[in-house]
Amino acid sequence: MPDQKFAHPRLAAVYDTFDADRGDLEAYEDIAAELGAHHILDYGCGTGSLAVRLTARGHQVTGYDPAAASLDIARAKTSAVTWAADTGGLSDFDLVVMTGNVAQVFLTDTDWNTTLHTVSGLLRPGGHLVFETRRPEYRIWDEWAHRRPDTRHVPGIGDVKLDFQLTGVRLPLVSFRDTYTFPDGDVLTSETTLRFRDRHELDASLTAAGYRITDVRQAPDRPAMERVFLCEKP
Ligand SMILES: C[S@@+](CC[C@H](N)C(=O)[O-])C[C@H]1O[C@@H](n2cnc3c(N)ncnc32)[C@H](O)[C@@H]1O
Repeated sequence: MPDQKFAHPRLAAVYDTFDADRGDLEAYEDIAAELGAHHILDYGCGTGSLAVRLTARGHQVTGYDPAAASLDIARAKTSAVTWAADTGGLSDFDLVVMTGNVAQVFLTDTDWNTTLHTVSGLLRPGGHLVFETRRPEYRIWDEWAHRRPDTRHVPGIGDVKLDFQLTGVRLPLVSFRDTYTFPDGDVLTSETTLRFRDRHELDASLTAAGYRITDVRQAPDRPAMERVFLCEKP
């Protein structure tokens, strides 16, 4: 079940403004070119930021997300991407990408392993899964504990204030609450829990799901903070 900030229409509408720095996406555009991928699935595409960019580069792109409100925002950006609310009927992708740390939303081993198998079924033999995940050793939650309120102007809506509160560090799970205050006084909250997996755990789960790990890189825009896995379906 996606968090409210992806699933609630009012919160999905402000997501791009609060997540405006997308320097992370360039690396995925480069990897898609490096792998020669034509048919690409953006798994957990959210508001479609990467899918739109990949389409503009000439790839044939499908964006999948279970949060209908986020997909509505994505759909309004372009009809050149195929937007999907489920993965039924999808197959034969050269590349499946998970950006924005989608891999961390799968909290249990069962959820993660099931996702890896689902994605494998969506790839053609020789296709790749590429995803990022925050390194637990970096302890990003120590920085999150000091995050300050952030007010941004959202076109068509006005000034929206975001208060962030770290609500729990019970490793490997880290939880936080986002509280949004809208110009009309409406206050909406979104609760998030993320799973931090270490390198050993990721290697083991990917191998068990039948992938060959071809490379593990640093995210160029966030060195030391994240790992980017390139995995091939043999
Ligand atoms: C942090 S956002 C990243 C969105 C997008 N990839 C980006 O980079 O902007 C995480 C996304 O994961 C999606 N999500 C949550 N649960 C999911 C699931 N079980 N399967 C696929 N996506 C899921 C959410 O709806 C949300 O859009």
